[in-house]
Amino acid sequence: MVRVGRRSWLVGYLLIPLAALLGLTLQGLRIKERERGRIGVRVLGRVRLPKPSLRGRMSVEEALARRRSRREYLEKPLTLAQVSQILWSAQGITEPTWGFRTAPSAGATYPLEVYLVVREGGVEGLEPGVYHYNPHRHELELIRRGDYSLELMAACLDQSWVGEAAVNLVITAIYERTTKWYGERGYRYVYMEVGHVGENVYLQCEALGLGCVVIGAFYDGEVKEILGVEEEPMYVIPVGYPR
Ligand SMILES: Cc1cc2nc3c(=O)[nH]c(=O)nc-3n(C[C@H](O)[C@H](O)[C@H](O)COP(=O)(O)O)c2cc1C
Repeated sequence: MVRVGRRSWLVGYLLIPLAALLGLTLQGLRIKERERGRIGVRVLGRVRLPKPSLRGRMSVEEALARRRSRREYLEKPLTLAQVSQILWSAQGITEPTWGFRTAPSAGATYPLEVYLVVREGGVEGLEPGVYHYNPHRHELELIRRGDYSLELMAACLDQSWVGEAAVNLVITAIYERTTKWYGERGYRYVYMEVGHVGENVYLQCEALGLGCVVIGAFYDGEVKEILGVEEEPMYVIPVGYPR
């Protein structure tokens, strides 16, 4: 029989908290790593979002059957709960230990960021501006004050639905998060991921009785300027009550 000395036991017990500490540190580093590329963006204010609901009034099947690109909206503000639900459907964290999200990601590298451009009176209780969605805190970070909806419409080749929507989501990509692991193939993965996010938003909007359309036709430079970040814009998604 192998005898285990007191010292070995002590070392064993010490290793457990050390391993836990290492795990926490690694998780912290992963989160920091994901937020890399956004460092330098000044946060002017934070808005805590209501918890997303996991119960809806529409089945996935019905949402799929009804999904349509909707380009005409009512002049009616969204609630913060609706905004919270839509952002969560795009990139919400559903598994906190590893940070897995509502949309899949190649190697869980999460190259996408989500922004919200809110027009004057677009969302009840939310000042107009450009916000970044922080999925780790499920919070909105105000990064620019003011109504940029008309500038965004101009950047989207004057597509009127961008200017008329209560809000516009802008999905951007930081390619390096994925290409540093997968090389050139990483670009393909990023494009696939944007598609997943777009469909999530379509289905969530439909289930909430809202309408949206994904937009790929825009001037990259102008959209970047409106957001004030060095990330590649992939989709602009106007959202509102369908007319
Ligand atoms: C990659 C991509 C880019 C698109 N870009 C635009 C766009 O710039 N403007 C627009 O109004 N619709 C755009 N759409 C929406 C399509 O026009 C729409 O999906 C198509 O007409 C089919 O209609 P449905 O979505 O209602 O099924 C785009 C869709 C995709 C997938």
